[in-house]
Amino acid sequence: MLFNRDGVIPASWAWKRILRFVVIFLAVAGFATLLWPSPKHHATPLRAHSNITISAQVKCDPDADMLHRLDIKKLADYTRREIVVETNSDPLAIKQKVEQPLWDTKLQGPFSQEAELVQDGCSVSTPLTLQVPVPPKTVDASHIDFGVATTVSRLNESLDQFAHWAGYTRTRIFALIEPDETKIALQQVKIKAENMGINLFVTESQDDYLHRYFALISILESNMREQTKWGCIIDDDTFFVSMPALVDALAEYDDTKSYYIGGLSEGLPQIAVFGMIAFGGAGVFLSRPLLTDLGTVYDQCQQMTFTGDRRIANCIYQYTTTRLTVDHRLHQLDLMKDASGFFESGREAPLSVHHWKSWFTADMPKLSVISDLCGETCLLRQWQFADGWILTNGFSVIKYSLPTEPGDIAMEMTWEPHNGATDESYLHELGPLRRKDDDKISYQLTDALSEPNGRVTQWYILRDKDGDKVLELSWRKR
Ligand SMILES: *[C@@H]1O[C@H](CO)[C@@H](O)[C@H](O)[C@H]1NC(C)=O
Ligand SMILES: *[C@@H]1O[C@H](CO)[C@@H](O)[C@H](O)[C@H]1NC(C)=O
Repeated sequence: MLFNRDGVIPASWAWKRILRFVVIFLAVAGFATLLWPSPKHHATPLRAHSNITISAQVKCDPDADMLHRLDIKKLADYTRREIVVETNSDPLAIKQKVEQPLWDTKLQGPFSQEAELVQDGCSVSTPLTLQVPVPPKTVDASHIDFGVATTVSRLNESLDQFAHWAGYTRTRIFALIEPDETKIALQQVKIKAENMGINLFVTESQDDYLHRYFALISILESNMREQTKWGCIIDDDTFFVSMPALVDALAEYDDTKSYYIGGLSEGLPQIAVFGMIAFGGAGVFLSRPLLTDLGTVYDQCQQMTFTGDRRIANCIYQYTTTRLTVDHRLHQLDLMKDASGFFESGREAPLSVHHWKSWFTADMPKLSVISDLCGETCLLRQWQFADGWILTNGFSVIKYSLPTEPGDIAMEMTWEPHNGATDESYLHELGPLRRKDDDKISYQLTDALSEPNGRVTQWYILRDKDGDKVLELSWRKR
């Protein structure tokens, strides 16, 4: 019976219902608590931004597409700072000291509290002003021809880096590639090269890589034109930091004499294995008289035992009296895993680098984007700030755990020994050397964009499992 005489629900029945409801509620809630994914424990609450977790410490709303591009899953900190460059016609040291701190904290500097909280909460309000040399003019490099043995797809991938040094300099690049059935692909690559100002000439060859490599001698020799002074054989990952610097460096040699110029390996064990040769990745430079001589013995040399850069060396040593001239600014970079010590050394920028997308990672095309704003002489230039942080332009923003002595020119040995190398194995090319700083804090260049308004933006990132930290540097001219 539902109702009693008075037409009301009996009290005991109502209590039972409430009790049952409470029991069910507790059971469901209990299950839910057990089964629900437990929230991760963070010191600070996190915001979700599509798939990206953003720490509450980030006081602005960074663009989601940009964070995806930078491959950030968790963002712990985002700082943006503007840099104004001032050109200076006085000779400037590669390493400069700056009186201001890089990280503008409320505790440092004569900056008011309000000025800190500008616009979006991530930007440091006061720009940094940095001195750079007057950028070199575009050079005419029509007296240098380059030869590279590669494949269509690698050639396509290499165009960005070729564009940096070869674009609009009137140099020529001769590529010897494997026959490719997709002629359309080759046509696309040629059009792309043309749009980048690269004079690209492609020949197909049935030979394997190391035979094709030597065949470049014949291609360079038979294509010499009136103004040709140098032929240079490169790998498809040989990168020249500055064509103006390369042209100046070659001008130090008498191109009417027979010259075989190159770089040795940075590791002695590699030299023990491969010999006293110009290591191919650094670029092998042959003067016109030497190229002409090699043309007359090409067939004999084609029969020699060794291949690749060793065959070039043996051919020169067996058939001419020319010997290797080592130019220590040309770099094979036989450095494993971490070459940051080389790039952060604060020494004169190298002419060439190699292995930057295999043995170690340094995105050279992205590194060189800043040259759009301040020229090739701006690359790898170093500024040490009042707070001890060091910007190596295009490469990293770091702080050593132990401050270095003023005037210390030693290079930090960050790489792993290769092929049984000891510390001494690297001295002949890279000394003075010092031990690796295991507690160095390092933001690495991850991306850089040149904007139509003339600005260049660089993103340096410190990767961390607890969230990545980003430093965005936005560069403009005064
Ligand atoms: C989130 O990640 C999933 C897979 O990981 C992907 O399919 C989806 O497109 C991502 N969403 C956004 C907004 O990026
Ligand atoms: C060349 O590379 C671009 C990306 O840089 C790619 O979109 C294009 O499909 C590639 N072309 C060929 C022929 O491999």
